Order: sequence, then C-alpha cells, then structure tokens
Amino acid sequence: MENSENPQYDSKGRLIKVGRDLRHIAFIMDGNGRWAQRRGYPREKGHTEGTKAFERAVRYCGEIGLEVMTVYAFSTENWKRPEREVRKIMGLLEKYLDKLLEKASEYEVKVRFIGERKALSQRIRDKISLAEDLTSGYHRVLNIALNYGGRAEITSAVNRLISAGRRTVSEDDISGALYTSGLPDPDLIVRTAGERRLSNFLLWQSAYSEFYYTDTLWPDMDETEIQKAIDDYYNRTRRFGAVR
Ligand code: IPE
Ligand code: IPE
Ligand code: MG
Repeated sequence: MENSENPQYDSKGRLIKVGRDLRHIAFIMDGNGRWAQRRGYPREKGHTEGTKAFERAVRYCGEIGLEVMTVYAFSTENWKRPEREVRKIMGLLEKYLDKLLEKASEYEVKVRFIGERKALSQRIRDKISLAEDLTSGYHRVLNIALNYGGRAEITSAVNRLISAGRRTVSEDDISGALYTSGLPDPDLIVRTAGERRLSNFLLWQSAYSEFYYTDTLWPDMDETEIQKAIDDYYNRTRRFGAVR
C-alpha cells in the first residue's frame, strides 16, 4: 500500500507511517568502538551490539513504511583497522547473512549489497548472492554498504560506461551505472556518534540529502532516536535550488 501524503502519528505522538516525501533513509552507523571502550570492553563487543541496533533499525523502518534503507557497514578505508576487528565485523556479517537466508520470509525485505565484492571471501560472496536472489521479490529495499566507497563507486561507474563505448556521459548515465541505480536518492542521511562528515558515503546520491547528526552512539540507537531524526526531517524545507 502506498504511503499517504503526510506522516501519520498515534495519539502519543509516535510515528506510525512516514509520508510520501520520505522514501529513503541512509544511516552511517558510527560509534560502535566508543560504545565498547566507554564500558571497558574490547571494540569488537561494540560491533556485536551495533548489529542488534542495525536489526532494530531495519525492523522499525519496515514498520513505518520506509521504501529504502541504506546502511554503511564497512568502508573501503576500514581495512586499515586491526585484523582482529575486521575479522569480527566479517564474522558478524556472515552470521547476519545466515539469519537472512533462514528468515527471509519473515524479514520481507529485498537485500542488496553495495560495494566492491572482490575483496570479500568466496564464502561470504556466495552467501550474499544467495541472499540477494532469495529476497529479490520483496518490495522494500535494504542496501548494505560493504567495502563501499563513494569515489570508487563513481569511478567504476564511469569506467563501465567507457568500456561500453561511451565517449561522453550524462548525469543520468552515471546515476544509472551506480549500485543504487533505479532507487530514489537518500532523502535523509543520519550519522551517529557526533562525527559530522560523509566518510566517502553516497557522494553522488547525497547531492540534495538532508543531514541529521546525533551524539548517540550507534549501539544505543533505537526507535525513539530514529523518530527524532525523522521529526527533524519533517521540519526542514527542501528547496532543491529553487525559491519557495
Ligand atoms: C562504526 O563504528 C562501525 C564501522 C566503521 C565498521 P566504529 O567502529 O567506527 O566506532 P568508533 O567510531 O571507533 O567509535
Ligand atoms: C564510517 O565510519 C564508515 C562506517 C560507518 C562503516 P568510520 O568510523 O570509518 O569513519 P571515520 O574514520 O571516523 O571518518
Ligand atoms: Mg567510527
């Protein structure tokens, strides 16, 4: 069922459904390491907790009728981290993939991985393909950015167009050659943990996105915190360069 024009709230002010002008939210899930360090845990524990927050967010975004959700799970730069931490993140990802393969019909979301897969293990790549095939019939989209970099994405899109024989390219050509081809650009980009930068996330797609920053660390993100970001979004005026 299509969302109505305006967002809908219950009598307690809780968001029930987003309105038609909020189709895509992208999350930069930051602060897992700090969450753990503040509690005297190793950073890896923060990623385990972050996975729970991620699953919570996916469920909630489904409940409020959001069409597309994108999460930044691992950047092309995150390989610079200690091997043990990288291994933990890949392990958590594989566990999530296993869950997805088992419970796809419960999650009801079309999962797509965006990012360069060559660097991933063959086992993970196989599971990614299986999960994408298995969920391809669902309407709601979850993009998981893994070994993702915005610059790498644009560069490879242009190179693909050149290989296809193009000598000049249009904006539509580039948009259509990105991982997010066919999807609406993010209306709202949420970054947790107080940092105010894109860190190479969705560079092309974020041209007119609204940004929301919170000091809340990603493992502490819940429905209430996400609604705060959405409420803030509904207080913005998007002009797209025009005069209102
Ligand atoms: C985000 O949390 C998760 C990934 C980048 C994989 P961080 O691990 O960056 O957490 P902080 O920023 O160190 O607290
Ligand atoms: C961005 O967070 C990448 C992800 C959330 C996966 P980082 O923690 O890697 O970003 P920087 O290093 O603070 O810019
Ligand atoms: Mg970080």
